[in-house]
Amino acid sequence: MANDGLPRPDNGLTRRSLLVGIGAAGGAGAMYAAMGVLGLAPSKDTAPVRAVGVTPPPAQYVPPQRSDFSLRGGTPATVVVLGAGVAGLASAYELGKAGYDCTVLEARDRVGGRSLTLRGGDAVTELPALAAAGTTPAPGGTGETQRVSFGEGTYFNAGPARIAQWMVTLDYCRELGVPLEVFVNNNASAYVLTAGMSAPVRARTARADAYGYISELLAKATDEGALDAHLSHADKESLLDFLTQFGEIGPSRAYTGGERRGYRVNPGVAPGTELGAPPPLTEVLSQGLGRMLTMDAGYDQAMPMFQPVGGMDAIVSALARQVGAGRIRTGTRVTGITNRPEGVEVAIEGGAPLRADYCVAALPPHLLARIPGNLGADVKAALAAPVPLSAGKLGLEYGRRWWELEDRVYGGATETDLDVGHIWYPSHGFHSERGLVVGYYNMGQDAESYNALPHRERLRRALAQGHKVHGEKYGADLLASVSVAWRRQPHIEGAWVRWPSLGGFTVLQRPAGRVYFAGDWLTHLIAWQAGAFESARKVVTDLHHRVMKEG
Ligand code: ALA
Repeated sequence: MANDGLPRPDNGLTRRSLLVGIGAAGGAGAMYAAMGVLGLAPSKDTAPVRAVGVTPPPAQYVPPQRSDFSLRGGTPATVVVLGAGVAGLASAYELGKAGYDCTVLEARDRVGGRSLTLRGGDAVTELPALAAAGTTPAPGGTGETQRVSFGEGTYFNAGPARIAQWMVTLDYCRELGVPLEVFVNNNASAYVLTAGMSAPVRARTARADAYGYISELLAKATDEGALDAHLSHADKESLLDFLTQFGEIGPSRAYTGGERRGYRVNPGVAPGTELGAPPPLTEVLSQGLGRMLTMDAGYDQAMPMFQPVGGMDAIVSALARQVGAGRIRTGTRVTGITNRPEGVEVAIEGGAPLRADYCVAALPPHLLARIPGNLGADVKAALAAPVPLSAGKLGLEYGRRWWELEDRVYGGATETDLDVGHIWYPSHGFHSERGLVVGYYNMGQDAESYNALPHRERLRRALAQGHKVHGEKYGADLLASVSVAWRRQPHIEGAWVRWPSLGGFTVLQRPAGRVYFAGDWLTHLIAWQAGAFESARKVVTDLHHRVMKEG
């Protein structure tokens, strides 16, 4: 299966389709009308001139504050938050700004949920293998436990690993003092390899050939009048001018390669030796490189992207510090959620039930759907609707950074349509001794086929695939490895979800009695921490407005 690199192919509910839907229904006019009501829309006199394509800023999030109560009366409520992933921690953090008394319950023995960064000394225990793709992991019982034996300073972001510039996640990094560095999401020096290719080539070479031949074809079609029905004379001139540069084609229109393809011997004092003539057009067309050459064209994938210095879990650790360790109960599994007239009762395994004025349920929907309670049939059905999906990642710690030393690859990814999907090189620690390569980041059927295996087998298979890109060195100098199959992670059971239809999505935007729902799965940013943050902000805003109104 061709991996997309994104959750989109499996997602009935895509960020894009939903955004398009909203645009069609409301559009900028509706947004401005709403902003006007809020006093946020600029007046005609003050409105700045906007560049084409620059969207107006959305209504600003205003966190609840203690002064809201001192100014208007009332007291902050008690809130039990289910789940210490990003959505749960962010909800408790934001509510805490106004003095809400929050208790966060987390079934795992650590905070963060899918924001999981693994280091030496950690252990990863899986659920038993799924009976079949698409089934639910068997209750109880455990599968394999991997002990992570990475050296000092090595870390593996087994879940989220990259942040786009426009995402609210960066605002939280700023607010929480989490230092950032660039995540190299695209590297012309890395490789591409598809079933249509006999050997990997550098991404820059593949791009030069694709741009070159497409330009040649389009220029010839233009010269021959094939596009006359669509283009004026001036358009044709403009197009030919563009193609000359886009594809580096000459006056004959032929693409014959050039320095963009790269060098066999790099230039220095001597001029260097170029790679030479491109493969024939038919070969380039058959390589199937459409996705590989456009992977960072996506709005959520465009360079530069960012990562917290030292590991993605810096964000959840900072949130947990702000919430306060005393308010977070790890190893606490929720077994019941019941709305009572005066509050919510949350039953937990092996302890007395907790009572609070409100509940923010920030667990994955497929887990919430299994928890008994009285949330109502429509809510239960809505929670059961999203389909949990598979993704997997393998971390390979090497004692020698051969990708820098021999391949001159500094960060970025090799894009493949092999079952490993993507191979990532580290964006930090350049020139240090060790380094961690992500040996696979796959999803869908590819992830399921790896996830069904014990770690040793996953490793063997992934090394054989990486060998096709890098040869012998891929198996040498390997110090340690660990793999995570997200469908088999206890108390998570999925990488992210797909909504087959929008009905349940809408139902769960509203509270069920005193129970609010939060998570990336309730946003147009599924599979992004930014979705969890945005959802937490919405729920906190809704809950706070209610408390202010009802007292
Ligand atoms: N957010 C996930 C990624 O970046 C899906 O790959």
